[in-house]
Amino acid sequence: MMTAPGSEYALEVLNLNKAFGGLVVTRDVSLKVRPGERRLIIGPNGAGKTTLFNQISGDLQPNSGFVRLFGADITYLPPYKRAHCGLSRTYQIITLFAGDTLEHNVSLGLLGLQRTRWQMWRPMSAYRDLATEARRTLDTVGLLHLADHPISDIAYGERRRVELAVALAQKPRVLLLDEPLAGLSNTERSTVQSLIASISRETTVIMIEHDMDTALNLAETVTLLNYGRVIVDGDRDAVITDERTREVYLGT
Ligand SMILES: Nc1ncnc2c1ncn2[C@@H]1O[C@H](COP(=O)(O)OP(=O)(O)OP(=O)(O)O)[C@@H](O)[C@H]1O
Ligand SMILES: [Mg+2]
Repeated sequence: MMTAPGSEYALEVLNLNKAFGGLVVTRDVSLKVRPGERRLIIGPNGAGKTTLFNQISGDLQPNSGFVRLFGADITYLPPYKRAHCGLSRTYQIITLFAGDTLEHNVSLGLLGLQRTRWQMWRPMSAYRDLATEARRTLDTVGLLHLADHPISDIAYGERRRVELAVALAQKPRVLLLDEPLAGLSNTERSTVQSLIASISRETTVIMIEHDMDTALNLAETVTLLNYGRVIVDGDRDAVITDERTREVYLGT
């Protein structure tokens, strides 16, 4: 595990810049998130929230700047190596394998994490261990009874919970959640909300969310982005009552 000794932050983003052609989407973004913190990222559509996550997870490379995980520079590591270092994420658009079972989707996530050169020589028992772990995690998200069903059989809200299971099964030290509550009914929303609330403090949680009431229940600190810039950043209540937040996000 690549952990610099005595690092104070779970995640540090330093002066990150990203442009698509002439469109600057991340402007000099810096963030510091402490171990165990619950951070909410808010901002209008197109503010650059998902693009920021993509650079933290390695799905996109920044034009300049740094990303550090527990003090280790991960800026140019491929995504699977970041997962090895304890970083997991969910996506705004569901990325599960629809024809495959819930159990297999979670197992595949774990397999990706454990990828080694000698994978083809693994004993069958290693795969059984993955399946056991996958079922255990599906149980924690309340979906064990559907483990053998294909993803295409289950409801949207349940798919969202499978995605969480895929990420949680990897026992991440830092978990990025991109709008995990979007499109859910009220009942599903409170289910997923309690699930997120029950995540162990061993895991630092950084969440993008539009549904402010729900998100604010979970958040301790908030970062507001607009036009790719950090506008305000700090303790939840201070950010929420900040004049600049009202101007940008609440539109009053
Ligand atoms: N791969 C890409 N190529 C070109 N432009 C992109 C790409 N990805 C994102 N953008 C643009 O970058 C801007 C920020 O997009 P991003 O998805 O990061 O916003 P967001 O804050 O997550 O918005 P939302 O709340 O709608 O999810 C948008 O104008 C978007 O069109
Ligand atoms: Mg987004």
